[in-house]
Amino acid sequence: MHVFLYLWLVEAMLKPMKEQIIESKITVCQPEELLADEQRMVQMAVQATRRSYSPYSHFSVGAGVLLNNGEEFIGCNQENAAFPAGLCAERTALFAAGAMFPDVPVKILAIAARGTDGELTEEPVSPCGTCRQVIVETETRHGQQVVILLYGRRCIYRVEGIRQLMPLSFTEF
Ligand code: THU
Repeated sequence: MHVFLYLWLVEAMLKPMKEQIIESKITVCQPEELLADEQRMVQMAVQATRRSYSPYSHFSVGAGVLLNNGEEFIGCNQENAAFPAGLCAERTALFAAGAMFPDVPVKILAIAARGTDGELTEEPVSPCGTCRQVIVETETRHGQQVVILLYGRRCIYRVEGIRQLMPLSFTEF
């Protein structure tokens, strides 16, 4: 028995497991470097933070969505005393767009947030895992990548397609 364990260890040392490095491409930019549509969606996300209903977290998130047909939507987080009943800004915007135009792909999704001090966050705001999963489904459903813009006062992260933020994502069963 010990001999087999020893041989297994020797083999494992000689033949290490294969590692796979997964890379993400994120462009770090300033507002003026974005395309006109993208700048507008960022502005809409920033404005939408003002409509946030977040009396519990005091973290006000806004989202702006542009569809292929030119229609624009905003969303902001909606909280509830029964915590799980609330919804993030991104999903509020994406679900509103999906309800109005179920067959139209989403071109751009911009996100911004104000911290508990009421200021826009210094660093780009990062979408939660559940919202990332919803963006995955949005892309697979329409067969089109979404340009995702994460606003921060220091810079904006521009990402082409949710897979940059969520590799190995679950899409079908
Ligand atoms: N929130 C969003 O709206 N989007 C995110 O991607 C992260 C979190 C909201 C949920 C909750 O109302 C508050 O931010 C604090 O988590």
